[in-house]
Amino acid sequence: MEKDVYEAVSLALAAAALLALISIVYRSWRNGISPMPSSAPVRQAVVHELRRLSSSGLLVEAGSGWGTLALQVGRCFPKRRIVGIENSVIPMWISFLVQKINNQTNISFIRGDLYTYSYENVDTVVCYLYPGAMKRLNPIFHARLAPGSHIISICFALPDWEPERVVVCRDFYRTKVYVYKV
Ligand SMILES: C[S@@+](CC[C@H](N)C(=O)[O-])C[C@H]1O[C@@H](n2cnc3c(N)ncnc32)[C@H](O)[C@@H]1O
Repeated sequence: MEKDVYEAVSLALAAAALLALISIVYRSWRNGISPMPSSAPVRQAVVHELRRLSSSGLLVEAGSGWGTLALQVGRCFPKRRIVGIENSVIPMWISFLVQKINNQTNISFIRGDLYTYSYENVDTVVCYLYPGAMKRLNPIFHARLAPGSHIISICFALPDWEPERVVVCRDFYRTKVYVYKV
């Protein structure tokens, strides 16, 4: 009897893990990018740029993945409101759970599409996406972001935009972080 329960629980856990994996792989395939988190030196560089900009308004992370960057930014800027947008359910829920456990009340994670988000009253957008996404976001940022707001893009430049700054991170890949003023 005990063995049967153990087997049933093991099977249920294995099925749940498989479903979670399928969900992540399927969403990564649809998005054109996986929820790979930015490295610690890159996160540090983003925090440094945010300090330099010294804005205090709403910060949106477009494609927040597992939430590591938003949670770190939230710890460094506890008075700043931060919203992470993510459409991959498992990473989004993990971010949400960690935020609740840490009681980081200045951060919220929403399940949504970064292309249809309004970007209303957003002061800073942070993203780590891929060239196709940057091309698609180009007219969206032009149309929806207020003049004076900033975009910080990890690794990938916004086509046709002149960056205010380009920072080279101290990681293995010498990742670039692009800072734009709208
Ligand atoms: C490379 S990860 C970056 C994660 C996080 N920003 C970081 O730096 O650690 C890119 C994330 O963008 C998300 N993403 C891609 N397209 C999206 C879309 N249309 N709407 C919402 N999230 C999207 C992916 O699911 C993925 O988690």
